[in-house]
Amino acid sequence: MAGIVIVGAQWGDEGKGKVVDLLAERAEAVVRFQGGNNAGHTIIRDGETFKFHLIPSGILYPGRKCVIGNGCVIDPKVLTDEIDGLKARGIDVSGLRISANAHVIMPYHMLLDHAGEARLGKLQIGTTRRGIGPCYADKASRLGIRVQDLLDEKILKKKITAAIEPKRLALRPFAKDPSLDLHSMAEEYLTYGHRIEQFIADTSSLVWDLLDTGKNVIFEGAQGVLLDIDHGTYPFVTSSNPVAGAATTGSGVGPRDIDEVWGVAKAYVTRVGAGPFPTELDDDLGAELRERGGEFGTTTGRPRRTGWLDLVALKYAARINTLTSLAITKLDVLSGFDRLHVCTRYRGEEGAIFDRFPYHQSVLHHATAEYEELPGWKEDISLARSESDLPATAREYLQYVSDFVGIPVAIVGVGPGREQIIWTSSSQSSLAAPTAA
Ligand code: IMP
Repeated sequence: MAGIVIVGAQWGDEGKGKVVDLLAERAEAVVRFQGGNNAGHTIIRDGETFKFHLIPSGILYPGRKCVIGNGCVIDPKVLTDEIDGLKARGIDVSGLRISANAHVIMPYHMLLDHAGEARLGKLQIGTTRRGIGPCYADKASRLGIRVQDLLDEKILKKKITAAIEPKRLALRPFAKDPSLDLHSMAEEYLTYGHRIEQFIADTSSLVWDLLDTGKNVIFEGAQGVLLDIDHGTYPFVTSSNPVAGAATTGSGVGPRDIDEVWGVAKAYVTRVGAGPFPTELDDDLGAELRERGGEFGTTTGRPRRTGWLDLVALKYAARINTLTSLAITKLDVLSGFDRLHVCTRYRGEEGAIFDRFPYHQSVLHHATAEYEELPGWKEDISLARSESDLPATAREYLQYVSDFVGIPVAIVGVGPGREQIIWTSSSQSSLAAPTAA
């Protein structure tokens, strides 16, 4: 049995979807445990592009159980559109399972997300405006609507009324918005409930049964550790816990069910939305990295901020998640740079040196990155399929990262395609490709 958690080790968009897709081939189930349709995963399979926001990427394997766990927040319109889209492309969705306890994003959550950002003005977080924060806020306030509530008209109406009551003032500007009418809202959401009813299940016991009978289960994180509401760059974070520990609470298994934790990191760093980013390249080099890496959001289309690889942050991610393996993606994007920089420490406003990720918001906001310079490579590496196909300097780059962070690099991405991957000899995962040592 193996429970394998895959998390983003940066600010999201690290290419987790591709890693999950690869490992899912050898697993029985893929479980999402937090977040909602603020996430976006792109998978390229046989030249066809698939974009997912809610459904775990494992759905492309016929018969795989793909679970949306209790820790997720679900916009049922997005979910049903995604189901319809997959069906229209001939994909079997019978393996989908949705936790009855997952929370539902309601129209007022989206309105409040927009209004909250507008009110913050210059201080805005840059959320995806999908209603994620307000939905999690209602969950914590015990005013949330859960998936199971969509199956009972009386309960649903009662709960919507209770949820809206304390928001009256904030929702006043939307008083005439038809999406807030109790009866049409309840009708619409009951229809969604009816449409997803066949997929609603006790997902915690389903996952437990799979692990108990020796199956591999992948827990697929969304966003990344630096967007974690507790451990990220608060308040410029998402409203859930993308760290590995949340795989347990967000899916209903215990810590002893987790055997491996993979952290996915790009060979450089990107971030969308506002907040500190010590290695940001706010110049032509950053723009070049954005163009080469196609760094535009899957969910919002926003251009991503770009910067050099931050090893202080990556080491922090390794600790907070107890990573067992690293997956380094998009190494090919670095081809052609003469010299590469990796951040090995921060310098604070008053000159203090930080070897560890600072816990204090103001320190981080003013921290500047100090770099180690490493030689680059000119070769196109997109056809490399083993470590020996890589130029020596690319291998040195990976070795430097692995040594600094203290975690083996198990796989390396060298292009967007599924086959553009290298399994390294240091991969000790139970899901390692048969060819790996
Ligand atoms: P929210 O999750 O929509 O509330 O947005 C909060 C912050 O998380 C913003 O900075 C978003 O840009 C960021 N964010 C949310 N989801 C993702 C993601 O999947 N990738 C990258 N950033 C994300």
